[in-house]
This record gives sequence, C-alpha cells and structure tokens, in this order.
Amino acid sequence: MADNGILQTLLKPFHASTVRRWGKRLAHCFTIGDIEKLFARRIPPVVGDYFVGGASDERTLRDNLAAFQQTRFLPNYGVSYDEIDLTTTIAGTDVSMPVIAGPVGSLRTLWPKGEAIAAKAVGEAGTICTLSTLSGTRLEDVRAASPHDCWFQLYLVGGKEVAMKGIERAKNAGYSALMLTIDTPVAGLRYRDKRNGSVEAINGGLLQKMKFAPQMSMHLSWLTSHFHDGGLMDFPNVELPGGQPMPYADIGNQLQQSAVTWDDVAWIREAWPGEIVVKGVHTVNDARRAADAGAKTIVVSNHGGRQLDRVPATLDMLRDIAPQMRDSDVDVLMDGGIRSGGDVAIALATGAKAVLIGRSYAYALGAAGEAGVTTALGMLRAELEHTMRQLGCGKLEDLNESHVRDCRAIAAAGV
Ligand SMILES: Cc1cc2nc3c(=O)[nH]c(=O)nc-3n(C[C@H](O)[C@H](O)[C@H](O)COP(=O)(O)O)c2cc1C
Repeated sequence: MADNGILQTLLKPFHASTVRRWGKRLAHCFTIGDIEKLFARRIPPVVGDYFVGGASDERTLRDNLAAFQQTRFLPNYGVSYDEIDLTTTIAGTDVSMPVIAGPVGSLRTLWPKGEAIAAKAVGEAGTICTLSTLSGTRLEDVRAASPHDCWFQLYLVGGKEVAMKGIERAKNAGYSALMLTIDTPVAGLRYRDKRNGSVEAINGGLLQKMKFAPQMSMHLSWLTSHFHDGGLMDFPNVELPGGQPMPYADIGNQLQQSAVTWDDVAWIREAWPGEIVVKGVHTVNDARRAADAGAKTIVVSNHGGRQLDRVPATLDMLRDIAPQMRDSDVDVLMDGGIRSGGDVAIALATGAKAVLIGRSYAYALGAAGEAGVTTALGMLRAELEHTMRQLGCGKLEDLNESHVRDCRAIAAAGV
C-alpha cells in the first residue's frame, strides 16, 4: 500500500464527514435494493462494477435473483407467536440468525479497512463473517475486530507453501473454520471489468489513470476515503516467499493457479484440524464428495454468478441437493441472490440450514461503512422475522417445502 502518511492524515476529516453524511442517508433506505442504489451513488463504476457484475453474459447472475422472485409463499394463518426464534448453530458456532457474511474479495476498495469494519458489524449482529484470502486487511486485524466467530476462506493463490502460511496465521488468530472454495479453477470471464478499463486503472501509468478523472470527480467521497486509507491495497494475507504481500496487480495471473482440488483437501485437513466448509457445490455428486472428504458443512453456491455462466440458479441447485443430503450429517448452506429476509425464508424452506450473503453486505459497506452493514443485517433479520410470523412459523425448523411454490414449475406444467 502506498506510503503517503501526510495525505492520509490530511484526508481524515473528509472521511469522518463521509461516515456522518452517508450514514444519515441510510434513514431513507428500507430494503437492500435501496442500499444498492446508495452504493451506486457513492462508488465509482470502475470500482463498483467488480462487485455488481457476474461472469460472461451474466445469465446465472440474473437467474440467481429470478429464482427467488418467482417463488411464492403459502402461509398457514390462524397461529401467532410471542417470540420468533431465529437462532441456530452452524459448524459449532451459535448464530443469532441464519445469515452469515460470505467471503467477498477486495472489500477494502470500498471502505477504509473494509474487511475489519464489516467483520465488526457482522460480529455485533451475532453472526459469522468470512474473510476472503483476497482481502486487503490483515487477517489478524479482521479477527480482532469481530466479537463473534469468523471463518477464513482459502484460495491456493501462490501455491501450497504460501497457503500453508495463511492457514497457520488463521489458526493462530483464532478463526473457527476454514472454507475451501472449489469453484475457481480459473477466474471467471468478467467482461464488465474489461469494458470499464479497470485493468488500465490499476496497472496503467498516470496518463491512463487520468482518463478516470471525470468519473472520480463525481465520487469525491469515495476518492477521499480511498486515499485516506492509503490508496490501492495489496493482499496482506497472501505472503509471497520473500515475506512481502501479493500486489493487487498480480491477482489475474495468480487466480489461474488458485483452485482447491479434492487432492488438496487431504493436506489441508492435516494442516487445519478444525471445521472445514466446502463452498461452490453445484451437484449432488460434489456434495457427496465434500462429505467423503470430511466436510460437515457445504455451501451450495455458484459464486454469485461470477464463475461459470449458464450454471443453474443456486436456489434450483439447492432444490436438487438438499433432499439428497437430508439423511447425512452434513449441514447444507446456500448463497446467491439473497436480497431480503423473504429470500432467506425461501432458502430455508427449500432445505438450507442457513444462507451466506455476498453483495447484500458489500453494497452496504460501500454505501455507508459499518452503519451500512449494521442496517443491512437489521433489515434481513426484521424481514425474516416478519415473513415467519406471516407463514405461521415460530422457529427456523418450522419452515419447510409446504411454505413455498416455484411459479416456473407450475407454469411449465400448465396448471
Ligand atoms: C465482489 C465479489 C467478490 C467475491 N470474492 C470471493 C472470494 O474471494 N472467495 C469466495 O469464495 N467467494 C467470493 N465471492 C462469492 C461470494 O462469497 C458469494 O458466493 C456470492 O457473492 C453470493 O452471491 P450474492 O452476491 O448474490 O449474495 C465474491 C463475490 C463478490 C460479489
């Protein structure tokens, strides 16, 4: 990260003003969709596209959302509860609601020390925050910022030796589970990032960077906070053999070698004796393979539509996988397209024990930092509780397939 201490100090009051002003704007946000609009106002497109976009033509990205939009509820009325119990236990950790923050890389490009700020807000909401290998804040600082358990998500960026260092550090810092993401044999084809010129913005000279001046002038709140935080981050959790952190510019090349394979799980399990979570499961076959490899928790996930375009929506994959894993001792989680507490209820009724969120909290962080993430989690909690009251469910286990109907299946059957 750039050593520009004087500039960082000079910009401190500007960032403090951003925290106040953008925090106040949350009062006009009632849904995650409203927060997404605020994110688009504060974050310049050359930065924000990375978070918003998906792979190739973004079919799967759209399908993830559409699958929830086309599911309808069937409530059981005539019952009422004093309290709705949203608590559950995931991979040995008690959580206050079935919503976990999934790994989202590069959060520090959205907000100063973004990963630590998010972990604090998520932990204070009583749930787990997962730190991506490809993050800009030291994993020790992120763990220390959260009052709750955190998970560390591992990519094999830089190879086995580099990964072993990361595992060792995560163990020493007290992470409670290691997440292995299996759906990244290569980086997804992210055409938005090519079209918007972000590669030149990162790697180019001053002249190429100047092309972005008009865009930046419209997003001064982001610009001042970014330079207050030291400018473009590196990856302090990927310690290269010389001990230095991986520079941001190397990410494209490094991701080509970052896949976790089933063969790797054997040595990873030796290095990490604790809980293992396998993320990126698309099929019943891979769900069983993950269970055979020793995972007690799996995440049905297509990486938020960012890896292979045209794979099914995760809600549809969950419809296939959850019933097949019901009699196993594996907890099935899911992510992809969760934008409301109603979506959480649908996922749980379809067989997930809990969901992970990605963009919902990344948008909130980019819009208003810690207050944004706290607000987003509060929305999801309140909407889930509201939906359960309406459905006649007092606790999470009461949610089941009888509460949801897939409109697409009904239309196809011509009923
Ligand atoms: C900007 C961005 C970066 C991501 N980085 C990672 C990552 O480093 N590791 C990982 O396993 N998943 C990563 N994901 C995928 C998320 O963990 C999650 O699967 C996905 O965001 C869920 O979809 P949603 O955004 O619709 O909630 C990333 C997602 C986004 C949007």
